[in-house]
Amino acid sequence: ESELERLRALAVDVALEAGALARDRRLHGVEVADTKSSPVDVVTEVDREVEAVVRARLAAARPDDGFFGEESSPTESAGDFTWIVDPIDGTVNYLYGIPAYAVSIALVAGDPASDAYATLVGVVVNPALGECFTAVRGGGAELGGAPLACSTQTDLSLALVGTGFGYEADRRGRQAVAWAALAPRVRDLRRMGAAALDLCNVAAGRYDLYYEAGTNAWDHAAGALIAREAGARVTGGEGLRESRRLVIAGPEVLVEAFERIAPAEVALELG
Ligand code: IPD
Repeated sequence: ESELERLRALAVDVALEAGALARDRRLHGVEVADTKSSPVDVVTEVDREVEAVVRARLAAARPDDGFFGEESSPTESAGDFTWIVDPIDGTVNYLYGIPAYAVSIALVAGDPASDAYATLVGVVVNPALGECFTAVRGGGAELGGAPLACSTQTDLSLALVGTGFGYEADRRGRQAVAWAALAPRVRDLRRMGAAALDLCNVAAGRYDLYYEAGTNAWDHAAGALIAREAGARVTGGEGLRESRRLVIAGPEVLVEAFERIAPAEVALELG
């Protein structure tokens, strides 16, 4: 077994344990503990508890690695490897009991804040559906052990396109304008509420394309590797530098077609 395979196995173990904890806690009801960037950007006690468990498990197994999670302070100085973790991506779905939330764990090599980094391992677990998506760099992507391949759609007008909205009112307003402009030009649009799962949906061919501006590294790091390893082209999505930028994921031809029409609709979001 290669070192990368061992790291994937560790990430899977921790993500499954974290996912089971989130699912169990959900049975007893979940409440908002705090808000972040806006009154609708919520965090629950379970987000914090799950992140603490993931952090402790990874620190015990890999004491020299850095940690960068959505709900706690990053480790001061990292060694060669950093774990990027969203304990519950799709927190609003989780709060409402919609079965589209996920634990997302990525392992990045190099300095994640510079250009010299690479995502080595990505694991996304949807505990409500019992789905576990994984990828290792150069080794393909899998769902429950079966290989994944992204869509082969080449016509944007026939593409099912996923996206997401940020929590800040201004950004969301601009995203709604982009959504309205795209709606008549594609098969249909989806806004499921968890960026990590959106990227896994691209990997599995459940969406033809996904785009979103403004995601953070913890939302997209693992999913971007999974989509790439399933054959998708993914713009952005690696390292912390990519936070807040535009992620587009799908078959090369569709990403190019989207980029050709995107400036009008999406440039707004990036400005
Ligand atoms: C959010 C979800 C959502 C996306 C937002 C993310 P959170 O993450 O992934 O689908 O549109 O950009 O912030 O807050 O649920 O972890």
